[in-house]
Amino acid sequence: MRDIRNSTLGFAKIFVIGLPSRTDRRDTIALQAALSDIQIEFVDGVQGKDVPDKAIPSSYEHDRLPDGPLGCWRAHMNVAREIVQRNLSSALILEDDADWDLRIRDQLYDFARSSHALTQPLTPRSRPGRVYADPTYPMPFDDSPQSVPELDFYSLPATVPPTASPYGDDWDLLWLGHCGMHFPFAHSKTIPKGRVIRANDETVAPKHHLWTFNTPFTLKDNYPDHTRAYHHVQEGVCTLGYALSQRGARALLHEVALKDVDAAVDILLRWFCEGEQGRKAGRQCLTTQPALFQHHRPAGPMKSQSDIGNHGDGYREKAMTDMVRWSVRLNADALMEGRTDFVDQFPDT
Ligand SMILES: *[C@@H]1O[C@H](CO)[C@@H](O)[C@H](O)[C@H]1NC(C)=O
Ligand SMILES: *[C@@H]1O[C@H](CO)[C@@H](O)[C@H](O)[C@H]1NC(C)=O
Repeated sequence: MRDIRNSTLGFAKIFVIGLPSRTDRRDTIALQAALSDIQIEFVDGVQGKDVPDKAIPSSYEHDRLPDGPLGCWRAHMNVAREIVQRNLSSALILEDDADWDLRIRDQLYDFARSSHALTQPLTPRSRPGRVYADPTYPMPFDDSPQSVPELDFYSLPATVPPTASPYGDDWDLLWLGHCGMHFPFAHSKTIPKGRVIRANDETVAPKHHLWTFNTPFTLKDNYPDHTRAYHHVQEGVCTLGYALSQRGARALLHEVALKDVDAAVDILLRWFCEGEQGRKAGRQCLTTQPALFQHHRPAGPMKSQSDIGNHGDGYREKAMTDMVRWSVRLNADALMEGRTDFVDQFPDT
């Protein structure tokens, strides 16, 4: 687990996807990475218009995706293919407007502890007679419970240490940067129900600053301020940051690059994780709420926020990063001057 603190955060590589013409974003994330002692490799984004019809898998008649989402799908698939071709054991994939907390290594270390609790076998003595802490792992069975007791982050059961990756031996995708996630639905037949709950995570912003595209927002509605949750993916939104294992990258090529491209890539990833829409069930996709990688929104015209969606005509006066307390981007001055009086975007009042 010490490797989680290395310059690729315990993955074999970190790739950053973005259009080469967005030099502003490359400058930003290159600086953030340097200030975090992280090594990144840029991967060129793809313009949808450059993807010919023939290159888009299609087994029934449906419309071609609009150029924005189509290019986005292709860029993400190019990275998955790179991981497969180079036989990388894993990689973290970020979009070029991502930002993170100065404490990202601690956050990922804690994520790994939680993912072990959810997916690694128990050591024989920790829960006699049980193989996994989550009785619905690796997949719910016919009469398995619709919900299972929460695991407390501060007293996780002892599990067998992983050997393949510091994050565990049995994962396909870690969805670490998103703009919406649900806890696994009670009725889901394919998604394990376990959740690790952590009270008093000081990196979590007060609740009134948290938002999501997914309603209800159970984390906010049912848990106290500063709670973090770790669990399997259900209806993730946005592909801002996620890791793939080699096994996951191969499966992604098979299920998302080579099957019908009839929805935006985040929806395809969701179907991949949940075994929906003709994708095979049984993938292991883990996540945390709130997300660890979030959108940075520089000051300036709203129009430049995205090359895919339309973000309106206004002007943002102050740079900000969604839900990240000690943003690396917003603390660049302090970091370069060796100061520790960090800007907290969302202090408790
Ligand atoms: C960081 O750790 C991972 C996992 O052990 C490893 O694959 C990767 O090569 C390491 N990165 C560096 C730069 O040593
Ligand atoms: C890929 O890596 C695995 C694990 O290190 C190794 O066993 C396998 O032979 C490699 N495959 C190729 C094609 O290099």
